[in-house]
Amino acid sequence: MTPTVLVEQTGGFLPAPWWFVQFFKVLGFTLHAVLMHLWYAGLVWAMVSAVRGSASGREAAGRLMRQMPILVALGINLGIVPLLFLQAAYAKVFYPATIYMAWFWLGIVILLIPAYYGVYIYAIGLRNSTSGSEPERNASSSLPPFRPMPLWRTAAGWIAAVFFIVIGFLFVNGLTLMTRQELFRQEDWQAVWGSHTAAGAALGTGLNLADLRLLPRWLMFFSLAWTTLVVWLVVDTAWRASAPSETYRTWVARSSWKLYLAGMVGFALFGSWYLHTWSAEVRATMLSWPILVLTGLTAVFPGPVWLGLAWSARRGKPPDRGLAALLALGQLLVIALNATSRQVVQNLELRQFFAVSQQPEAVQWSPLIVFLVLFVLGAGVVGWMLWQLWRHRQVET
Ligand code: HEM
Repeated sequence: MTPTVLVEQTGGFLPAPWWFVQFFKVLGFTLHAVLMHLWYAGLVWAMVSAVRGSASGREAAGRLMRQMPILVALGINLGIVPLLFLQAAYAKVFYPATIYMAWFWLGIVILLIPAYYGVYIYAIGLRNSTSGSEPERNASSSLPPFRPMPLWRTAAGWIAAVFFIVIGFLFVNGLTLMTRQELFRQEDWQAVWGSHTAAGAALGTGLNLADLRLLPRWLMFFSLAWTTLVVWLVVDTAWRASAPSETYRTWVARSSWKLYLAGMVGFALFGSWYLHTWSAEVRATMLSWPILVLTGLTAVFPGPVWLGLAWSARRGKPPDRGLAALLALGQLLVIALNATSRQVVQNLELRQFFAVSQQPEAVQWSPLIVFLVLFVLGAGVVGWMLWQLWRHRQVET
């Protein structure tokens, strides 16, 4: 029997035009990813830097962690936008996939709460303790006495760092399960669902570990997140309220292009590995005209951002505000291209057993208008909040 039998093809409808669903799903995921990257890769980097980093590395880690509570709040809320459109247009495959891994999917919330508190506990600990090391502090009479971060607060930071990486892994499980044909094919039912059902009822104990796409996709996302973290470092250095020390600026100039290069190489390696786990049909489509342009741009666009960082390093100083803003825009394009390619691959993988774009449209204008108005208002409020943060930014001592 063909797999389509297990995905109900009739019934159901798109509550908004197909282009609208795709546009806001990709836009929402892009905005979610910009901030999600900073906690996905940034938290573990900050915790390692706090222990093993240079004085500048610890300073940078401290700056990121002080901003982290706001970054997590904004990023989680921005994740709701793609979730809305995922549930509205991809329900027939999204729900079976998340039911298959129900306890792990629920685990995202169970892990997110302590992770979120962990970020706050650590950030408050940073405010109450002094950065740098005891000898540095004691050697300098102008600085307040050394107050180390209490161990339980450091532990809270590590718990948050590990939990966010695990949550990222669970998200990649959910999104790859949703497009995994075997989950919906009768002949694979016993093999895939058998050990995760009892008397025909799903136990919610499954994961997508057998899927060859899982690991490279997860590592590709982490590498991409790492490149965004480096651009944050450059933007924060250029736009921070107090002028950073010469030592710090030199450290940023010297290390940012190398750190970005590491992320870019990871993105290229794991991205190529991931590309090879696609089905022949999906790979053929993504590597043929005209979609090849999108695939190509997605692969090469981190290059110009890296060149900007390398050029700046050659001048021996970190990017100034203008160049930092340009690099931030470049990184936003890197993320948006990745989000768009990811969406095309998602639809192509689904096309083999669920023609998601062929669902009948029954546009519900009233909730749609409310969504649009609230989206614009929400973006306005977030913009105003960030402007207040900028206007009242404090000069650090
Ligand atoms: C409750 C808060 C969150 C919500 C509502 C949310 C929402 C989403 C949605 C809807 C997607 C899929 C978008 C699409 O397919 O278009 C997604 C993907 C993703 N999210 Fe989040 N997210 C949240 C928290 C997190 C956290 C804490 C992480 C941790 C790192 C994270 C990491 C990811 C990753 C890595 C993906 C891509 C998965 C893939 O495509 O394989 N998200 N998120």
